Amino acid sequence: MWSNQWIFVLAAAGSAIGLGNIWKFPYITGENGGGAFVLVYLLCIAVIGVPVMISEVLLGKLGRASPINSLLNLARQHNRSPGWSAIGVVGVIGGFLILSFYGVIAGWVCKYIVESATNVFESADAAFVGDRFSAFISDPLQLLLWFTLFMAITMFFVARGVTRGLELCVRYSMPAVFVLLLVLIGYGIHAGGFGESFTFLFYPDFSELTRSGVIVALGHAFFTLSLGMGAIMAYGAYVPQEVSVRKTAITITVLDTVIALLAGLAIFSIVFGNGLQPDDGPGLLFQTVPLAFGSLPLGWLFGTLFFILVGLAALTSAISLTEPAIAYCTERFGLSRAQTAVSIVGICWVLGIGSVLSFNLWAEMTVAGLTVFDMLDKFTQFIVLPLGGLFIALFTAWVLPRTTVGEALGLSEGWQRSTWQGLIGVVTPIAVLVVFITQLVG
Ligand code: TRP
Repeated sequence: MWSNQWIFVLAAAGSAIGLGNIWKFPYITGENGGGAFVLVYLLCIAVIGVPVMISEVLLGKLGRASPINSLLNLARQHNRSPGWSAIGVVGVIGGFLILSFYGVIAGWVCKYIVESATNVFESADAAFVGDRFSAFISDPLQLLLWFTLFMAITMFFVARGVTRGLELCVRYSMPAVFVLLLVLIGYGIHAGGFGESFTFLFYPDFSELTRSGVIVALGHAFFTLSLGMGAIMAYGAYVPQEVSVRKTAITITVLDTVIALLAGLAIFSIVFGNGLQPDDGPGLLFQTVPLAFGSLPLGWLFGTLFFILVGLAALTSAISLTEPAIAYCTERFGLSRAQTAVSIVGICWVLGIGSVLSFNLWAEMTVAGLTVFDMLDKFTQFIVLPLGGLFIALFTAWVLPRTTVGEALGLSEGWQRSTWQGLIGVVTPIAVLVVFITQLVG
């Protein structure tokens, strides 16, 4: 059990806040034209993210086991098909796939800790920072090295168990990330890109929004909140009985969204302040932030600290990606955490080599223009997570008895329960399906 409600909120926020907020949100916003995309993303968070977050925490709390077994037990208890536990199985596989490419990007972050600490970027210009990044990712051995380092650290923490270290890490590093993002925004206000950045993010221009932008926003809402594969459900299994599911779920969602928007503001301030392009792709973080710190006094120190904190945020997220699989393997096969940690992270490491090579040796080896990295990213974000979320919503709404859910969520009988039922049973599933189907038709 988490010792109290705040430890759970911290752990879940540690899972949610990660590369999704600081690396991915800015670059996909840049690729999808800014404001209108951000609006759709926020809508997805509110209409789909919040209800699915509440459901995952609730299912964990009611099931008290790994996602696979929680779903299995709950389905049996209410005389439904054990087939519902397939959501958990797909989630475990999804977690492997995500961690395999997530670790590669986290490896880039580790490399940039060292780059910043050795003051490589002092007074550097955009061309230098850009070239340095391109040279780095085109070197497969370097990427493999840093990826391996990050995965080894992840393995170590996973083997030692969920709560230890995690709490401490999240309690201090999250507020620190917040402060450093404010420093970067301060730089933006000073160096002149802030106004344009604000307009780019918050003034929607719907002519910029494409059909694929909508599915990217939907998929990212799941990704950034760690939803759709049972990560939050696995953490929910350790929630003390008296904790309010609704309140904690909403707190986690708000924290995650605030960090993403601040990261966006910070990074686009640097983009516009230096005449860079917002649609620069996955390298955006690494081609902007060093530039800002490079021109600040003591920039190497702040830059090092920044990348350390992003690395810690990635670590707490990576740990949560393995939790459904770890919990299941320890329950099912009676293996120790250490044994499962080595096997699971080991499998992800092997898979991750495909992503390492996507940026260099295999860059031209594409299917429909997609590298291995792109395929893993898109398959999990567009298909695995939204479908997982859809079935989690359906399970909560139509498998569990409404009174059980209503009581567990502390909803009063009458309008509160019917509103919730309408949201989780109808609005959320239809919203996911509509985006899905329009995408297929398009
Ligand atoms: N949410 C994390 C991020 O934004 C990544 C993550 C952790 C995740 N656990 C997950 C994504 C489970 C999907 C599912 O960086």
